[in-house]
Amino acid sequence: MHIEPFANGGCRSYLISCETSGRAILIDPEIHLVERYKAAIARDGLSLSYLLDTHTHADHFSASRQLGATLGVPVVHGRKSPAPFADMRLDDGEMLVAGDVRLVALATPGHTRDSMCFSAGDALFTGDTLLIGGTGRTDLPTGDPEQLYDSLFGRLLKFDPATRVFPGHDYKGNSESTIGQEIETNPRLQKRDRQEFVAMMRELNLAAPTHLTEALRTNMSGGITVEQLLSEAAHTVPFMSLAELHDQLARGANDLTVLDVRERDAFEKGHIPGARHLARGQLELRINDLFPDPTVRILACCEFGKISTLAAATLKQLGFMRAVALDGGMKAWKDAGYALEV
Ligand SMILES: [Fe+2]
Repeated sequence: MHIEPFANGGCRSYLISCETSGRAILIDPEIHLVERYKAAIARDGLSLSYLLDTHTHADHFSASRQLGATLGVPVVHGRKSPAPFADMRLDDGEMLVAGDVRLVALATPGHTRDSMCFSAGDALFTGDTLLIGGTGRTDLPTGDPEQLYDSLFGRLLKFDPATRVFPGHDYKGNSESTIGQEIETNPRLQKRDRQEFVAMMRELNLAAPTHLTEALRTNMSGGITVEQLLSEAAHTVPFMSLAELHDQLARGANDLTVLDVRERDAFEKGHIPGARHLARGQLELRINDLFPDPTVRILACCEFGKISTLAAATLKQLGFMRAVALDGGMKAWKDAGYALEV
């Protein structure tokens, strides 16, 4: 069995493969590493059998649904996972088989209700139940310190001390540890009494993760993040730089219509000379009146360059095949010292 770890910030994911058959399992894929996983799979000639999430992540975005859809690979979750897109749900003690790799599921609630750890040979993939020098927190939705105590002291710490630990997060630059090392040195595991452990977990008072609501929303539903929505829109339209637009306007290019999609009061305070106005919120409702000619070349602009990207993508979907988005927005236009019309 070969284990290739991936790290993005503090998030860890693992590509586990059978060296004879090339069958592989990817644990806790993260959205920003999608191309790196694909490259590693192609480089080693692997065939991905399963995508696995150890639990519903509250602090980062899982790539399992997206990778599952693009690669045609089943997504596997624990039985208690709320995600409707899971193709297979494992109960405690069930096993995934990929070539010689036997990955056994352990239900280890506590960090979340649906947390699972996975054991394969001498390796234990501990998700956020056990971290190197720490444990997962229990103060986020469905967390429970009593259950975490049972999962740690009743299950994980009973593994052979030489068992290698591969956690779902690491913020301190560690790569792996062992159960024995964690029992000896992990500060949270020194509270071996249930009441003391639970009290310690309840008193941690940690700050909420940055993307809590969006991560829970997308990981539980299979929906996409705002960043993905913008990125998907950006892939469907061409862009024009501020300098190029400035030059084209100065040359009097007469086939280009600038469409300002900000709210009316922002438009009236100053806009690109000659720009027309149609707020993003009314785009679909009024576009037919404003642009009866579908061959018109429309360049969408907004304050920061994001809403205009969505507007240009919508225009393209509606059949304005020459829709373009401004690379940047009115803020950058003003900062560059270009002329405004009031
Ligand atoms: Fe987590």
